[in-house]
Amino acid sequence: MDKHIFDRPVRIGMLGCGVVGSHVARLLLADKEELSTRAGVKIELVKIAVRTIRPIDDIDPKLFTTDAKSIVNDPEIDLIVEVMGGIEPARELIMAAIENRKSVVTANKALLASHGAEMFTAAYAKGEDIYYEAAVAGAIPIIRPMRDSLVGDFVTRLMGIVNGTTNYILTKMHEDNREFADVLKEAQALGYAEADPTADVEGFDAAAKAAILSGLAFHTRVTIDDVYREGISKITLEDVQIAKSMDHVIKLLAISELTPSDEISVRVHPVMLHKSHPLASVRDAFNAVYVEAESAGSLMFYGRGAGGAPTASAILGDICAVARHIAHNSVGQRETDYADRDIAPIETTKTKFLIRLEVEEKAGVLAAIAQVFSTHGVSIQTVNQAGRDTEAELTIVTHQATEGELKATVDALKAMDMVKHVSSVIRVEGALSA
Ligand code: HSE
Repeated sequence: MDKHIFDRPVRIGMLGCGVVGSHVARLLLADKEELSTRAGVKIELVKIAVRTIRPIDDIDPKLFTTDAKSIVNDPEIDLIVEVMGGIEPARELIMAAIENRKSVVTANKALLASHGAEMFTAAYAKGEDIYYEAAVAGAIPIIRPMRDSLVGDFVTRLMGIVNGTTNYILTKMHEDNREFADVLKEAQALGYAEADPTADVEGFDAAAKAAILSGLAFHTRVTIDDVYREGISKITLEDVQIAKSMDHVIKLLAISELTPSDEISVRVHPVMLHKSHPLASVRDAFNAVYVEAESAGSLMFYGRGAGGAPTASAILGDICAVARHIAHNSVGQRETDYADRDIAPIETTKTKFLIRLEVEEKAGVLAAIAQVFSTHGVSIQTVNQAGRDTEAELTIVTHQATEGELKATVDALKAMDMVKHVSSVIRVEGALSA
């Protein structure tokens, strides 16, 4: 039998009531009895801070206030659910809530990826929980598996499709031969994209999630500034079609791995992924995280990474878990940063590359280009040439090389008269043997 030390409901105050927040509030109110039974303590939503008060279906307007501070300072409130997004005033409100001995459930990846250390330190000093399952990959349980289930294992690498908008765009380019800009509009209309789609398209959203997952995987504080980042706005339909002709798909991946010198290499960029890789079959707005650990081997977590209801599912799970801790005067498993590993400079990261370039069609061009690769220590795996009268297009795939070696090679190629244009440089993961 559970021994309850709490003789009143756990009272919840919410900060924000947008797409995600309104789902959470509606479900908290509608399923109150059942969620309370599952948590083992009564759960009650008592206040919701909004910027402007307007009617929202199925939510009692008496719950709304425009005074967010009154929630974080209310001694009757035990648990804050932050779904307002952005850095400020979310950070300031959460820090005030912790100072006032409240646990926090948040979906705010940008805040965690920039100010996580400050928030965790404060919460742990006060004996409070910070739960944030919804911050990475929406409905997919990935934070608790990384923080709790795998705490006894040693993660070596993770690769994730953690942004639904870009995965949707790349899927439609691949399957329907559509241009990037056309599909982006559709993804926005479907509600997958962030308010400013630059956060999705240029990889900032994925970089925040990569930082959070890397910190958990490698027991080190990792911030968004540590993550090397490239988005998908330079990926053309032609790139996608060439990848397809080589049995690959192009995905925006968040990759984090331990290097041989025990540093963390953490990056977000488009990757040509062989179709046999489990992540290659993750289509549309779905997300997936592929984790490699010493004892567990490979694991893959798959599901809906965006949208009101999927994100609300993760938040409600956190609310029940934290409410239970509050009722039992306990806390959950915490983040640890004892390993304090360094972040590997991107120049030292090793990968394979596909390079497409337009060159003059004449004797000696291929030899001269091969010489540039050789001079910079980059070994060529395959070369394909498509001729066009006086010009030819070369598609070259390299063996593993460092980013530094590759950059020097590309710079040298660009400086050659016989090279008209370097159209793309894309990293390759998957079946082509190293
Ligand atoms: N804009 C994000 C995405 C939503 O497309 O995945 C969840 O962070």
